Amino acid sequence: MKNLAILLSGRGSNFEAIAKSVSSGRIPDARIAVVISNKPKAGGIETARRLGLNALVIPSKGKGREEHDREVVTALQTREVDLVCLAGYMRLLSPWFVSQFPHRILNIHPSLLPAFPGLEAQEQALAYGVKVTGCTVHFVDKELDHGPIIVQKTVPVLDSDNERALAARILEQEHIAYSEAIGIVLEGRYEIAGRRLTQTRTT
Ligand code: GRF
Repeated sequence: MKNLAILLSGRGSNFEAIAKSVSSGRIPDARIAVVISNKPKAGGIETARRLGLNALVIPSKGKGREEHDREVVTALQTREVDLVCLAGYMRLLSPWFVSQFPHRILNIHPSLLPAFPGLEAQEQALAYGVKVTGCTVHFVDKELDHGPIIVQKTVPVLDSDNERALAARILEQEHIAYSEAIGIVLEGRYEIAGRRLTQTRTT
C-alpha cells in the first residue's frame, strides 16, 4: 500500500478527482495519507474533512520558504509518504524540499509545457493565440514547471473561447491526466533518460 500526500492551496478539484480514483481502485494499492494546505480557508481542506481524510493546515503566511517547507516535510515523513502530489499548491518548493523526495513529487500545470509556465497559463495561451493547449503532469525539480513530463493531454482552443470556458475544458483533462500519471509512477511503469520519460510494461 502506497501513501499519497496531496498539497493544495485552493478549491481542490484535482485532489477530489484523485480521491475518487483511489476509492474506485483506478489508482490501485494506494491511500491518501494526508492532505495539507498552506491556506486555512482552502476549499480542498473542507473536502478532505468531508471525505474523512487526514487534513492538515500548515499556514505559510509570515514564514520563510524553508521554514515552512521543513514543517511540511516533517508532516510527510511522519506519515511515511511515498508520493507527494501538488494539486493547486500555490507555493514554490525550496530546493531542500525537492531533494527530500527525488522523483517523488508530481505537479499538474494547465498548459502544454514548456509553453506558458507560471501563473495564469490559460490566459497566457489565449493571449498568445495558440490553437491547441492542454495540461501537463510532471515530476517536480528545482525549477518552476520544469521536471520530466509524465502525461500530457491536449485541448483545442475554440474561436468562441474565453479564459473561463477554456480553463473548464482543460480542467476536465487535468482530472483524467493526474490519476493516469500517479498510476504510472506508483507502479514504476517508466524509465527516464535525460528528461525523457517513457512508459514500460509490467506483466
Ligand atoms: C489547476 O488548474 C492546476 O493545473 C493548477 O491549479 C489549478 C488547481 O485547481 N496547478 P484545483 O484546486 O485542483 O481545482
